[in-house]
Amino acid sequence: MSSKVNYLSCPDLSKARLKGDGTKVVPFDMEPDHRLIEAYKGKKYFIKTYGCQGNVRDEETMAGLLEALGMERTSRPSESKISIVNTCAVRENAESKVYGEIGKFKSIKEKDKDFVLCVSGCMMQEEGKANLIVDSYPQVSIVFGTHNINSLYDLLLENLLKKERFVDVRSFPGEIVEGLPYKRLLPYKAYVDISYGCDKFCTYCIVPYTRGRERSRRMGDILAECKKLYAEGYQEVTLLGQNVNSYGKDIGEYGFSDLLEEVAKIGIPRIRFLTSHPFDFEHSMLEAIAKYPNIMPWIHLPLQSGSDDMLRRMGRRYTQKEYLSLVEDIRRTIPGVSLSTDIIVGFPNETDEDFDATLEVAKQVAYESAFTFIYSPRNGTPAARIKDNVSDKIKHERFVRLTKVIEASVEKSSDLMVGNTYDVLVDGPSKRDKEVLSGYTEGNKLVNFKGPQYLVGCIVPVKIIESHTYSLIGELVGDPLLHKAKFVGDLLRRDPVVEEYQRVDQAIKEDGKLMEAIDSLPQVKKDAALSIGSLNYEEKRNTLLKLEDMLNTHPMIKNRENLYSQIQDLIEELRGILS
Ligand code: SAH
Ligand code: SF4
Ligand code: F3S
Repeated sequence: MSSKVNYLSCPDLSKARLKGDGTKVVPFDMEPDHRLIEAYKGKKYFIKTYGCQGNVRDEETMAGLLEALGMERTSRPSESKISIVNTCAVRENAESKVYGEIGKFKSIKEKDKDFVLCVSGCMMQEEGKANLIVDSYPQVSIVFGTHNINSLYDLLLENLLKKERFVDVRSFPGEIVEGLPYKRLLPYKAYVDISYGCDKFCTYCIVPYTRGRERSRRMGDILAECKKLYAEGYQEVTLLGQNVNSYGKDIGEYGFSDLLEEVAKIGIPRIRFLTSHPFDFEHSMLEAIAKYPNIMPWIHLPLQSGSDDMLRRMGRRYTQKEYLSLVEDIRRTIPGVSLSTDIIVGFPNETDEDFDATLEVAKQVAYESAFTFIYSPRNGTPAARIKDNVSDKIKHERFVRLTKVIEASVEKSSDLMVGNTYDVLVDGPSKRDKEVLSGYTEGNKLVNFKGPQYLVGCIVPVKIIESHTYSLIGELVGDPLLHKAKFVGDLLRRDPVVEEYQRVDQAIKEDGKLMEAIDSLPQVKKDAALSIGSLNYEEKRNTLLKLEDMLNTHPMIKNRENLYSQIQDLIEELRGILS
């Protein structure tokens, strides 16, 4: 089954560290080759993604490329003609899951020699991993990396024509590719990349090597993507970057708070952003969040450790005191804000005192939610070379102690919500009970409540009646059908056709001559009617016909009528949603 492997490019961690001289923005304007379309049109594809939101957004791009060939998504790998395993490298356990997943495709490839399995994502950007994968798993036909998703068509075509295997993992991310197709996973909430890569090089972290140096997308491209989502009726947009706070520093014309304000002005009901590094957090960001009600009062602020010594050795660029004073500023500027965090336990040579400092900060900040991880050495990072004197047993004990402290503050913040009503963006019926819907509050707390499935994608008020630490139980407030009607009304208002109609209507109202003609129509009609049988009938009738003709053929009025009939069609469509 295994055939020749062509190594077109392989990852090189030293190259991944390099910074180019300014980021080039290149358009993607590739049409898929007709032979690819002939081979795959009408066939199914499957994608399994591990890792962070950035990887999920990449999956949407891969899906968009495959759908442009005429393919359809399936949730069953055995039905697929092309499958992609999109990997993560952030910790050891993320990687071990990948091997098991790839293993599942062995029998599919044995049954169907034309089946194509691709492996992509961060793990492939690590030195040696692509070779290991193609050597150990003959069912893998194509390996590509995070910087060359745009070469998917070339690789699929080469594989189709030559029936050989291809590895193409570029290391140097000097460019941003704009205009790639994408197929969103959800119709009401979306991720939007604002920057790629990371320049922080925390000593434990593989991300700057797998995703490359930091490159910001141009503000105009981001706003265009958000405006499209607004017009399509999206309720929530999450702006993504490994460190959103440093957005724009490489461009030098605008920063993250400028972007945040511009995105908020578009009018999407919920704006979120991930992730904020405490180092370059500017107060202007907090002001923007406080000013715009549609920027959600939730900040994910990774702490990693509460010990100054650990923070220094992690390369985090802030002290415990600086972190705490930032938290104070955040809580003061945005009343009711939710704070979440990431904490690493067991960084090499962490002492009891270091760990106690972490517990202390966790207690003091009283996070509304948190992710905790046990340190996992990543080959190629500076921390992986440090000899560690802490046993796994101690690390696990610390992990359990930290989890308890975190749980206490999460529980307390959840308990405080009982009895109050919160807006919840409905995600979907729960897997266990179809009548139970789940969704998130503005502060990113998970709520389960009973309600009809047609509310998925709507923002509805829910009264919290019970707290279960990591989730809340609530009751829908008000009539679900009215909530849906409000949602549908909002969709209509956002449609560009409605906006255009309002614009044309306004222009007509501002045109004095035209308005005069329109206003005179009833009187001219009356005069013509009254003159029937009299001598000046012909003259009055001609005046009326001329006026009617002028109005019926006037470009602005014709345009308004045309838009009006398009709106009628839209209303019909929306009536369908309501029923
Ligand atoms: N750019 C983001 C996310 C990075 S990865 C940030 O800086 O917050 C998400 C989280 O994984 C990190 O915040 C960190 O807590 C954790 N992480 C990263 N590398 C790790 C490692 N080698 N071992 C354990 N946890 C790690
Ligand atoms: Fe990794 Fe640090 Fe960059 Fe986050 S900021 S991606 S933890 S290097
Ligand atoms: Fe994983 Fe890559 Fe994201 S390593 S966490 S998928 S940036």
